[in-house]
Amino acid sequence: MATINDRYLYLKAGYLFPEIARRVNAFAEANPSAKIIKLGIGDVTEPLPEACRAAMIKAVEEMGDRATFRGYGPEQGYPWLREKIAEQDFKARRCDIDASEIFISDGSKCDTGNILDIFGKDNAIAVTDPVYPVYVDTNVMAGNTGPANEAGQYEGLIYLPISAANDFTAAIPSQKVDLIYLCFPNNPTGATATKEHLQQWVEYALANGSIILFDAAYEAFITDPTIPHSIYEIDGARNCAIEFRSFSKNAGFTGTRCALTVVPKTITGKASDGSDVELWKLWNRRHSTKFNGVSYVVQRAAEAVYSPEGQAQVKALVSFYLENAKIICEKLTAAGLTVYGGVNSPYVWVQAPTGLSSWEFFDKLLEKANVVGTPGSGFGSAGEGYFRISAFNSRENVEEAMKRILENL
Ligand code: MLT
Repeated sequence: MATINDRYLYLKAGYLFPEIARRVNAFAEANPSAKIIKLGIGDVTEPLPEACRAAMIKAVEEMGDRATFRGYGPEQGYPWLREKIAEQDFKARRCDIDASEIFISDGSKCDTGNILDIFGKDNAIAVTDPVYPVYVDTNVMAGNTGPANEAGQYEGLIYLPISAANDFTAAIPSQKVDLIYLCFPNNPTGATATKEHLQQWVEYALANGSIILFDAAYEAFITDPTIPHSIYEIDGARNCAIEFRSFSKNAGFTGTRCALTVVPKTITGKASDGSDVELWKLWNRRHSTKFNGVSYVVQRAAEAVYSPEGQAQVKALVSFYLENAKIICEKLTAAGLTVYGGVNSPYVWVQAPTGLSSWEFFDKLLEKANVVGTPGSGFGSAGEGYFRISAFNSRENVEEAMKRILENL
């Protein structure tokens, strides 16, 4: 009989978002007339930018003509896309990143999980608490943890608490950590990191031979010019950080699928014989063995993000969601709730009304206001008592959701 990877049995029954969907579907079935508004999972609602659609249509036509048809592309992505990313996302911000260090993929969620393929099993791994659950669950699946305790924390992981007291930015650990996941603007709390804060992490990583796994999926939402968009804006990060980015939230590609991971050629890790090995070589090997690349049509759509029209349209899209976030913050604050984030981020992190746990607040809002958010405790035990509201929805739905929440607090 075939055996299984029984580390999967350590996982909580459902990944957070499918679990929420399950509860919402059960409620909808029992209450078919309820008009449910979903501000839970950070899924975009507004149409793809015109520039991306036009590029896709053109690419589809090319695929219909023998002369311009494309089969397999380079697994790492087409050079014309990688070069635009290198120029506009990195070099324009004085980040020294070469196109060859950029790997195009179908999602940051996949990449933040897949990256574990190239690391050993004996690393000390740190995550914040609360945290985007994918970082934790993929480590459980990879066999990097023991079982979870009562609080849902996995043996072997180092949890760095984040809260209002530390502006939702983790203190540099006192012990030695080999891999550290950082996400800024932060999912779920909406917090951002200053240059000085990231500088401390980079210095720590360089001093300890650690690697920072930096998730910048929400960088497009940064409007404050003092906040870095990329870890590579920090001196030394080329030697210690891998960065993940996505077209999902800036250009609305959650259903279209395109992302990128940057692995600088200057980062190394230790092999068991003590030699230093370039991570770029390992990731390149992994990527070209297990992945056949993002479709030509989608890469053309992603390329269009970097055209002048694409840039203007993406900016408008991001501003639209940021305005939603502002409305959410203003309405909830006026109603007496304490809110965080929602300024350089599409996520608003709300303190549940006194006496209510995250899931109790979730149930109350679902049942009374027919509004779905995400319970903070689903992101880790330190998220208990908090609730995440996503600004990804139509203006009409955001306004209606706020009206209903305020009537039912
Ligand atoms: C979230 O709601 O946290 C995100 O949508 C999850 C994701 O991007 O995978």
